[in-house]
Amino acid sequence: MNKKWWQQAVIYQIYPKSFMDSNGDGIGDLPGIISKLTYLKKLGVDALWLSPVYQSPQVDNGYDIADYRHIDPMFGTDEDMYRLISLAHAQGLKIVMDLVANHTSDQSVWFQESRKSRDNYFSDFYIWRDAKSDGSEPNNWGSNFGGSAWEWEPQRQQYYLHYYAKQQPDLNWENLRVRQYIFDMMRFWKAKGVDGWRMDVITSISKDQRFQDNPNPFKQTYVTGNQDNGPRMHEFIHDINREVLSPFEMMSVGESPSSTSFDARKFVDPDREELDMVFTFEHMHVDRKPHGRNGRWDLQPLDLVALKQILSSWQTNLWQHGWNALYFENHDRARVTSRWGNDQQYRYESATAFATVLHGLQGTPFIYQGEEIGMTNPNFEINDYEDIELLTNYREIVQEKQTMTKAEFLAAAHKISRDNARTPMQWAPTSNAGFSSGHPWFKLNPDYTTVNVQNDQSNERSVFAYYQKLIELRHRSQILVAGTYQLNCPKNTRIFEYERIYQGVKWTIIANLSNDELSISTYFPNKKYHKFILKNYKDRKDLECNLRPWESFIIEQEI
Ligand code: GLC
Ligand code: CA
Repeated sequence: MNKKWWQQAVIYQIYPKSFMDSNGDGIGDLPGIISKLTYLKKLGVDALWLSPVYQSPQVDNGYDIADYRHIDPMFGTDEDMYRLISLAHAQGLKIVMDLVANHTSDQSVWFQESRKSRDNYFSDFYIWRDAKSDGSEPNNWGSNFGGSAWEWEPQRQQYYLHYYAKQQPDLNWENLRVRQYIFDMMRFWKAKGVDGWRMDVITSISKDQRFQDNPNPFKQTYVTGNQDNGPRMHEFIHDINREVLSPFEMMSVGESPSSTSFDARKFVDPDREELDMVFTFEHMHVDRKPHGRNGRWDLQPLDLVALKQILSSWQTNLWQHGWNALYFENHDRARVTSRWGNDQQYRYESATAFATVLHGLQGTPFIYQGEEIGMTNPNFEINDYEDIELLTNYREIVQEKQTMTKAEFLAAAHKISRDNARTPMQWAPTSNAGFSSGHPWFKLNPDYTTVNVQNDQSNERSVFAYYQKLIELRHRSQILVAGTYQLNCPKNTRIFEYERIYQGVKWTIIANLSNDELSISTYFPNKKYHKFILKNYKDRKDLECNLRPWESFIIEQEI
């Protein structure tokens, strides 16, 4: 198999604001990342994806970009970024940046000009529409951060569209100049040495130009949804590929919230020349009530059968037609040990069990900062949270519509809010977890006195050491990269088990994703000729004893 670098790679996501603060202002920064390159090298990852570090008023933590070509002073200087790229490269680490091209900040020069009048150079850089005759918004589209997706601009006497905060106006991709500006900017970063892109909500860039109302089953004032897969989306993405990705050999992974594995083939089948990989949300919604009126906050217990079915459909449907991006955590997701595992009694076991399940699959695994030491969700009070999505949703759902109580909302936030993953990285049991010598921009998870890099690395049961082994396996075992996939016992509600086969060798990956002890003979009736490749219970030597809570391992068998 002729593999691309990212097919044998493990990619590490950094949320710069919360990673490492070098100058004591409480905000993580680029020199902070540079100071941790040795740590990342020791972990063994191949590439770093940085959440946005461009100039930004930080309404949505940098996903509102005012200037794509410069670094926000809070993170350092442009030179710091160039230095990070070259020092990372010197250590064999690639750099992936975040391409936020569905929208900019309202502080960007483009928008500042666009809002002034209907007939200047930038007028059509954004999506402007007249009010209805009664002065109301052009349609019922809702913003993901609450309220209408339209905001009135007095200077221009028109509404502009924003799928996210009103400080994040959506770009008009119908305008060729916009596309060219974005392509130029991507080439600019290529020239600085950047190796690839994670593409923020890339499936939203094409808007249906009819601008019709969304279906409104709950009779709401504004309705979110229908933001993905617009009529020209594939054409625009193909353009990005032809203009930038292919000629300049840049890796791409697109955020594609509503994709199923069938939709995904249209993005990632190499013949179509679009993207290398996509991040779906499908497998992350298995603990969400379908069609609930409170959207992401309407939770249900994890449906493991559905999780297995979805991950397996991606394995099967992309087989030889594309490549998977594998993740459980990122800056928009909670900590998997708290969300689906047991972050108390079995923190080490459940963190490593989920890691085994994910890293055994075909695709490129993404590790989110702190996942490699089994960081957990903090159970914050409402006033401790920072995230614009959580705060606007809270106001709307609990205070205005009152479709959830505060206690219900908080219980959901403790499980799934985006802020769960954004607390500062926990390096040491010392003040501010070794993240900053100043006052951190965001509250630390109080468990840092026990859960931190220093403790983990000196612990016999180290999550970090387990990740090191998983990454090393990915590097040296073709079976993980190229082996076939088959799910076993699909209906079992506690066990995740599958097989990978390559050149006469079979690996079985098994994880008990429950607090119960389970009889092993059901899963391995034939107890002979097994060799353990990896395990999270040290005393596991054969297949005689039961599967302990959250126990997982990989075993090899010749076939
Ligand atoms: C993506 C980002 C998220 C951001 C949103 C708007 O979903 O991952 O953090 O708020 O897009 O840019
Ligand atoms: Ca700083």
